[in-house]
Amino acid sequence: MTDAQAISDHWGKGDVYSRILDAMETAGLDPTSVTVEQLAPVDHFHARSFPATVELADVLPIKEGDRLVDIGCGLGGPARYLAKRFKCHVDGIDITAPFVDAANKLSVLVGMEDAVKCQHGDGQKLPYQGETFDGGYTQHVTMNVPDRDVFFGEAFRVLKPGAFFALTEHGLGELGDPHHPVPWSEDGTGAYLMRPSDTVAALKKAGFADIEVRDTGERYLQGYKRAIDLAEKGEVPAFGTHILLGDLTPQIVRNAARNIEERRTHPVQIVCFKPG
Ligand SMILES: C[S@@+](CC[C@H](N)C(=O)[O-])C[C@H]1O[C@@H](n2cnc3c(N)ncnc32)[C@H](O)[C@@H]1O
Repeated sequence: MTDAQAISDHWGKGDVYSRILDAMETAGLDPTSVTVEQLAPVDHFHARSFPATVELADVLPIKEGDRLVDIGCGLGGPARYLAKRFKCHVDGIDITAPFVDAANKLSVLVGMEDAVKCQHGDGQKLPYQGETFDGGYTQHVTMNVPDRDVFFGEAFRVLKPGAFFALTEHGLGELGDPHHPVPWSEDGTGAYLMRPSDTVAALKKAGFADIEVRDTGERYLQGYKRAIDLAEKGEVPAFGTHILLGDLTPQIVRNAARNIEERRTHPVQIVCFKPG
């Protein structure tokens, strides 16, 4: 099995869209009138979910009419949120076919299929012409990317001069050796964590400049602790990312928190620019 197939199989188990529809029904959400905001607990599939996307969006220089690329778009939640908030267009690409299928169907449900278009593909080989996009981002994707030089090189190629590039990830912590399972890997297979300083060096090597790194560990840790607390009280909401993570969710969440506390992972948000 190729690495790409293994990573896709890890994320997209079974019919993802049907699972989301079932969870909507359990949560009392009507698919014919559901909103971008109501989908957010599931379709912002990264640490701290929707609030983390909002905080990232708050620092990005996105303008009305911009065309953005979301590399590793998952279910397309961040793309729909940005497209709605900034009246821009987002092209998403993701290596997991069932996520792309669900992303496009969810966009139809909320009437955003013209603003957000997702397609299947690998961020290490983007199917776009050079200098196409006004900005790009990749949220919680790079933990699974074996070749950061190629991945960042591709992002750089498809961005216009002056465009921003934003990245959020669990970097490798000072002590390394994360406990598994974690969201991106059950046992370490397909996991390629890098120390934040190495990620910055790889971004510079690709040509990016004005690189700003923000430590997000403490915020993620509080988010994971809240999730653990709700689970212990038996109050996990019906509509949440556990429907994507599966039966290992309790262990995954505990390990994600523990890895940060023990400095095995080092979460960061990075914003940089292609020189104009
Ligand atoms: C934690 S999810 C994040 C999804 C989305 N960015 C979000 O924040 O909601 C990680 C995503 O990265 C995708 N992914 C991993 N490696 C990839 C690659 N080389 N190219 C494109 N997508 C990739 C996975 O398929 C999965 O959808």
